[in-house]
Amino acid sequence: MDSRHFLTLCDTTPETLHRLLRRAQDLKALRRQGVLHEPLRGKVLGMLFEKSSTRTRVSFEAGMQQLGGNAIFLSPGDSQLGRGEPVEDTARVLSRMVDAVMIRTFAHETLERFAAYSAVPVINGLSDSYHPCQVLADMQTYLEHRGSIQGRTVAWIGDGNNMCNSYINAARQFDFRLRIGCPEGYDPDPELAAQAGERVSVHRDPAEAADGAHLVVTDVWASMGQEEQQRHRERAFAPYRVTEALMARATEDAVFMHCLPAHRGEEVDAEVIDGPRSVVWDEAENRLHAQKALLEALILGATATEDDTGRQPA
Ligand code: CP
Ligand code: NVA
Repeated sequence: MDSRHFLTLCDTTPETLHRLLRRAQDLKALRRQGVLHEPLRGKVLGMLFEKSSTRTRVSFEAGMQQLGGNAIFLSPGDSQLGRGEPVEDTARVLSRMVDAVMIRTFAHETLERFAAYSAVPVINGLSDSYHPCQVLADMQTYLEHRGSIQGRTVAWIGDGNNMCNSYINAARQFDFRLRIGCPEGYDPDPELAAQAGERVSVHRDPAEAADGAHLVVTDVWASMGQEEQQRHRERAFAPYRVTEALMARATEDAVFMHCLPAHRGEEVDAEVIDGPRSVVWDEAENRLHAQKALLEALILGATATEDDTGRQPA
């Protein structure tokens, strides 16, 4: 892979991202066929979780096992990080023992500090600023259901949060138009949006954002760490719920995505998330396949040779 770490979607090139998606589809097919594919035998992934997780933990842990390796789960409560051991020291120690590290944390800077001192690849499993693994899986899901996303229009409805920032990066890397429908005060990172140029626009009217969209995406109104703002946010975001009426503004073949966990009746109506245009279960499953492609590429890197999938890791 042409980058050592995967902290954001912009750490690597569009070509590498496309290769990862093709590889993810190959790995998905192999698993469906029951073919054992274990290029990471003897390799270990360290996983540091400072926030809760269902999908990220299980997909990385299961993914490593399916690739023949192992994963170790650590949280602040059961490591010295929780007792104040510096991130830099933890990085130097862990990276002498494992082959890659996945981190879910609050400040994105923690990931950057860890990566600066790590001798092995570091993967962002979600920070307050980005969630690149999820959006990689989203891109795989769109590709599977509707083909290339290049030139298409994506509507992001709701908070300008970590997922939204990763969608801005994806708009640049995968070359699609992104319309963000969010209330004032909840905009995504303005610098990031500016870097994306005309591809990205912010709208106060969610219907305007959804008009003619090929993909409609939303996420929770209060992210992890913002629990005490829940009430306040419910009021601010009330007009930004993804309803059937909002979906009707999108194109006829538009699909709906949500990274999950979801709150039916808040950011999305049950009719939408449980309806025929929702691809959220494939989206969740694809975390496994997309991250297996990523692990293979980061851990094996340039030393990888063509294997039983017929393609080299990105
Ligand atoms: N979408 C996602 O990252 O889910 P978890 O919080 O369950 O890992
Ligand atoms: N924006 C959400 C995503 C959860 C997967 C959060 O950070 O809590």
